[in-house]
Amino acid sequence: MTSIAILLSGRGSNMVALADRCASGDIDAEIAFVASDKTDAPGLERARHLGLRTVVLPYREKGQATAESLLSDMADDEGIDWIVLAGFMRLLSPAFVNGRRGRIVNIHPSLLPAFPGVNAIGQAWDYGVTVTGVTVHLVDEKMDHGPILAQEALTIKAGEGLDDLEERIHALEHRLYGDTLKRLFRSRLTVEGRRIVFE
Ligand code: GRF
Repeated sequence: MTSIAILLSGRGSNMVALADRCASGDIDAEIAFVASDKTDAPGLERARHLGLRTVVLPYREKGQATAESLLSDMADDEGIDWIVLAGFMRLLSPAFVNGRRGRIVNIHPSLLPAFPGVNAIGQAWDYGVTVTGVTVHLVDEKMDHGPILAQEALTIKAGEGLDDLEERIHALEHRLYGDTLKRLFRSRLTVEGRRIVFE
């Protein structure tokens, strides 16, 4: 079975959606641990509530290099196949990414390359787009930039408010992330430039 570690900084709704699908056997993976750079991330409490092991990475106390090396050691020791970012608000270092290239995945609430970075839904809203969506991608050294695994578009409805749009984007994320990981864990991937072929 595929072994994954989930990294988060916030409320953890994507982590919960993935944990539910792993627990039901729909996604053939086991969550070895949920890690955060923030001691008080609400997602950690939610993970504990689900019976998952949680880890706080000491970014604040000891800095990025130490935090990443701790994560790397744990991932090696425990035979983690994939690092799954779910609202992790830090950029991983080139050294870390290089050591696990093609085995780190992220979700972003826009149709990349539009609106990378924080508050993507708000950025898209402020820009006035009529179509936005969700992207699942492999992680490289740049923010919200690696090769795309899946995208799904969503059309903003006439008269729709930002709150409703956010709700629909998050619902789409919860479905698309699970669907993409399920497919990913069953496939062999070939990365051809920026294009990914699932076999
Ligand atoms: C999601 O919108 C995700 O795409 C982005 O951060 C948010 C995390 O939400 N990277 P949650 O913590 O999973 O609820």
